[in-house]
Amino acid sequence: MNVAIYLPSETKTQDWIRMMGELMPDWNFHPLTAVPDPEAIRYAVVWRPTTGCLRPFPNLKAIVSIGAGIDHVLADEDLPDLPIIRTVGTDLTQRMKEYVALHVLRHHRNMPALQASQARSEWAPVVVPPATRRRVGVMGLGNLGAEAAKCLSAIGFDVVGWARSPKTIDGVTTFSGAAGFGDFLDGTEILVNLLPLTDETRGILNNDTFNRLKRGASIINAARGPHLVDDDLLGALASGQIAAATLDVFHVEPLPSDHPFWQHPQITVTPHVASLIDAPTGSRIISRNLRAFEKDGTVADLADARRGY
Ligand code: NAP
Ligand code: GLV
Repeated sequence: MNVAIYLPSETKTQDWIRMMGELMPDWNFHPLTAVPDPEAIRYAVVWRPTTGCLRPFPNLKAIVSIGAGIDHVLADEDLPDLPIIRTVGTDLTQRMKEYVALHVLRHHRNMPALQASQARSEWAPVVVPPATRRRVGVMGLGNLGAEAAKCLSAIGFDVVGWARSPKTIDGVTTFSGAAGFGDFLDGTEILVNLLPLTDETRGILNNDTFNRLKRGASIINAARGPHLVDDDLLGALASGQIAAATLDVFHVEPLPSDHPFWQHPQITVTPHVASLIDAPTGSRIISRNLRAFEKDGTVADLADARRGY
């Protein structure tokens, strides 16, 4: 069986080819840009493929996204109409839970203010309410959002969650659809975004959303950069409606060196590391999915391209 692999970095592509080859010695893995026989390729394993790069392979059966999101695959304007397999698993969920808990607690306990006091050698206690009186809202209750919400609830936060369809999650008050969005936001003090990027969710972190939150709320965006309207965040930080933000994802990555987020005192920037799958883990999951798809013609982690996630 022949598989083409594409990542924007040549070195990473070679790493993936080596690891997949070790796990599946009976399959052949090629860099997508140097395939000897395009007609023999049955699967493409990709991260951020360029437009049209999958067209030369007429016998492809499925596309594998190296990651949970498929927006980077759907961005290919000349994408063949094929099943898209997501790469998800307990490692990815665990990492995201850690990131969300870390940054929610950081905002909750106002660590930036304590660090600023330390920089001034100033003893300035900040007393915050206990987590039980802090409402955290999680947007998106899929693989990542549901686990993050449960973890925050276990810490003791007052957790609300929002998804497209109704959900029941122990310890989490849930809302759904456009009709539930306002009630979900009301009273939320720390807003965590774990939505997929789709036509419906692009730009959802905007002034209308910020203005529904409790004044002085914090934002954590660990999903995709285009969920956020950058200028709206800068304005809301200036007005005090939003007190602080942690951003892991950006419209352009790497974040350009002259972007105002880098130096903003109320923004914490992390370089898309909230839950990046490492190659050894990712290749194990992908090898299982490829074998299962080849055997059964489907897998549990199929995305729905029409829905966008
Ligand atoms: P998922 O399992 O597909 O879950 C998506 C959730 O969002 C579902 O609960 C879905 O509702 C909800 N949703 C989708 N469209 C909605 C809408 N219009 N209104 C309200 N809710 C909506 O996705 P996941 O695996 O949790 O991953 C979420 C995203 O995280 C990925 O798409 C990716 O962009 C991002 N991500 C980031 C990193 C990082 O390192 N920063 C790592 C991994 C993933 P239903 O349940 O009702 O369908
Ligand atoms: C990472 O951003 C992913 O989609 O898995």
